[in-house]
Amino acid sequence: MKQVKIGLIGLGFMGSTHFRIHEANPNAKIVALADVDAKKRQGDISTVIGNIGNSDNSVPLNMEGIKTYENAFDLINDPDVEMVDICCPTPDHAKYIVAALAAGKHVFAEKPLCRNREQEKEIANAIANAKTFINFGMCVRAWPEYRYAWELLQSGKCGKMLTATFRRLSPSIDGNHWENWFMDKERSGGALLDMHLHDTDAVCYFFGRPQAVTSIGRPLCSKNGGIDHVITLYHYGDGTVVEAEGGWGAPSTIPFEMSFQIICEKCTIRMMSEGFKIYWTDGTVETPELPATTGWHIELDYFINCILNNVTPDKYQNYASVSDAFKVVMAEQESVDCGERVTVQY
Ligand SMILES: NC(=O)c1ccc[n+]([C@@H]2O[C@H](COP(=O)([O-])OP(=O)(O)OC[C@H]3O[C@@H](n4cnc5c(N)ncnc54)[C@H](O)[C@@H]3O)[C@@H](O)[C@H]2O)c1
Repeated sequence: MKQVKIGLIGLGFMGSTHFRIHEANPNAKIVALADVDAKKRQGDISTVIGNIGNSDNSVPLNMEGIKTYENAFDLINDPDVEMVDICCPTPDHAKYIVAALAAGKHVFAEKPLCRNREQEKEIANAIANAKTFINFGMCVRAWPEYRYAWELLQSGKCGKMLTATFRRLSPSIDGNHWENWFMDKERSGGALLDMHLHDTDAVCYFFGRPQAVTSIGRPLCSKNGGIDHVITLYHYGDGTVVEAEGGWGAPSTIPFEMSFQIICEKCTIRMMSEGFKIYWTDGTVETPELPATTGWHIELDYFINCILNNVTPDKYQNYASVSDAFKVVMAEQESVDCGERVTVQY
């Protein structure tokens, strides 16, 4: 059977999640791993903590037949690697994306796209010259509830979308990750870039590009002014009311919440504490049956299939949509900083 040979960079929460997904996919084979941490290179993920999923991380991952590298550029230049899967901290995404595309590898890169606008331009240039495929972990577009809602909205059955609210509230992750990099604004961009980005992307997914944003936010636990809690209003200029809230400032004992509500002319779509439901204006309440999987599985398995079948991946996200969400979040940071509404520069 033909398998896509994968080199994985970074074996933290997302890297170990991708590792397990690829391990379960008969069309995928991890052939190389790069991590700066020697224990991770032995498959030891006992220190890894994440927000969704209850994997037993006390059991080391099976590293049989997997080459290991301390330096990710060595993995990128390994001729056995066909696809580079980038799951390291955000500031290093750009240099590995650029190098992997230049080396003729397919690339799957975790979100956020990168840390700043300069890196985004480097990535855009690299993609313009690439002959291989690239896709990104902007997973809400593939997440079953969000995808179902998007398809329902596209069908026209719901009528016009009127208002929407999105939430992503995480327990504290202060002290839980490699070098505590999430608490360093220069590295992670705070919860604003790292977490709230998912809802910004969801807003763009459902409503298209906002003209402008107004955001308020504040540091709570980050050490150098990272925005740990943020609320954003997205301006469309047509009366639509859309807002999102995200943060990771609450104690580590709270449950993780990702939720949304979209009110339309003919129904309200909710993914909230009662589960995922559609409330029609005729009084009917629908509980759609959804596949018991995650957007992470769906987007990764889809990308592997695209490589195997030489089909350009554009079903869930593409560079244009990922880049749009990144630009909106950059405008949100600017709005927090200046205290005013900011027009998004696309
Ligand atoms: N799509 C999602 O839902 C989602 C969820 C969580 C994290 N993420 C993203 O995934 C990325 C990784 O986050 P995480 O939670 O896994 O972080 P983490 O701290 O758990 O893991 C980072 C791993 O990368 C390794 N590393 C650091 N620098 C490296 C380098 N230069 N080369 C190779 N390895 C290196 C560390 O040793 C560690 O094993 C981030 O960009 C984050 O925003 C996405």
